[in-house]
Amino acid sequence: METNLSQNDHSTDGAAARGSWGSNFGFIMAAAGSAVGLGNIWGFPMQVGKGGGAVFVMLYLCCVVFICLPILVAELALGRSSGRDPIGAFQVTKPATPWWLAGALGVTAGVGILSFYCVIAGWTLAYIWFSLSGCVGQAPGAFFGAFVADGSKNVLLSFAVLTITAGILLGGVREGIEKASKVMMPALFILLVLLGARALFLPGAASGLAYYLKPDLKEMANIAVLNAALGQAFFSLSLGMGAMITYGSYLSKKTNAVKAAGWVAGLDTMVALLAGFVVFPVGFSIAGFNPAEGGPGLIFSVLPNLFASMPGGALFGAAFFVLLTLAALTSTISLLEVPTAAMVDRGWCRRKSVLLVTLAVAAMAVPSVLSQGAVAWLTKVPGTGMDFLSLMAVVWNNWALPIGGLLISVFVGWVWGADKAIAELKAEGNSFPGARVWAFLIRYVCPVAILFVIVMTARGMFAG
Ligand code: PHE
Repeated sequence: METNLSQNDHSTDGAAARGSWGSNFGFIMAAAGSAVGLGNIWGFPMQVGKGGGAVFVMLYLCCVVFICLPILVAELALGRSSGRDPIGAFQVTKPATPWWLAGALGVTAGVGILSFYCVIAGWTLAYIWFSLSGCVGQAPGAFFGAFVADGSKNVLLSFAVLTITAGILLGGVREGIEKASKVMMPALFILLVLLGARALFLPGAASGLAYYLKPDLKEMANIAVLNAALGQAFFSLSLGMGAMITYGSYLSKKTNAVKAAGWVAGLDTMVALLAGFVVFPVGFSIAGFNPAEGGPGLIFSVLPNLFASMPGGALFGAAFFVLLTLAALTSTISLLEVPTAAMVDRGWCRRKSVLLVTLAVAAMAVPSVLSQGAVAWLTKVPGTGMDFLSLMAVVWNNWALPIGGLLISVFVGWVWGADKAIAELKAEGNSFPGARVWAFLIRYVCPVAILFVIVMTARGMFAG
């Protein structure tokens, strides 16, 4: 029953070999870097488009505040207390129980998510060059379609993303992950504000904003939209799969993890909302724009229109895609770090772990690449009506992450115990003002709400 203190005090046992954060700011940038990524700038506007605009935004914000923020705190607490990778975190906290399987689900989800995420990150990489050279032309949508259908080019691009990610991971936690994030995150934020300011002055911006901000309340009861909002919130905050358990395991007890969680969730939400302020005004300034039809190409076919209409747009466009690539990289880093940490904590050396995991992900990325037009049956996977890449996104984001989040909230709230988690979070005199509210959310609200969404979605799927 009692957690073994000496086992949990990782400040002495091998912390140097595993790695640790150099500063509070560095940790927040790395964790916010994990959170802020394609999910915010590419995924969020796309989901808003599919989910009917402002209703999605409202549901999303509710999911962030009442479900995801408490789980973020729980993951950091579990990681810091155990000082282990996601599998080890469950094992150390409740030895000789099957709970480690929840961690294993997370590690698997990390690999699965990275296998399609690196494909999209490859697109952003290519668009740096496309923006500079101006080859996107007058019909960015058609250009995008032709580009993604080129299988061999895109295999190389996604491998390039994985190689860069692996390179940073080899540098270790502090010198690799933390250093990269401290530069990339502030730059991304500044550029996004500038782009948003420009977008608001485009003709058509007003109808874009109305779509984005005025909810059509009929859609509120649509369970598919709620499931998408919950999945998106989990994905955007990097939750439900142990990324934050892993990052929490490199934390010192001195850090106020609750405050840090607030920063991470706040920054992540701000960037997603800002991305909407860029994409929708720009979209609605183009004749015949239908946000629901935007699909995966939304960012790649809408934003080039903005860049084409701006003085110095080629450079601005290139800068945007540079930063989008950097934001994607701070996320791929955390995705690759989860299975890497799982191997390192099982005695493998960091180099071998990074290499093996990268190779496995690279192989898994190929079908996602080929599903964008190169191979017919992957473009519409039989029985799903979706291409393979979108199918991966639904399986991992909308299912694996909420299920992972459910398990984590039950584990921390009931099995490990909310009180023990609070004690961990208050270690070294750190304050935790809303501790009782948090305990209520993690024990009751999170499990019930997530279970409700999962069950209702499953019912809808089988009924429909
Ligand atoms: N949060 C990242 C994004 O929004 C994606 C991610 C998910 C990263 C899960 C790590 C873990 O792009």
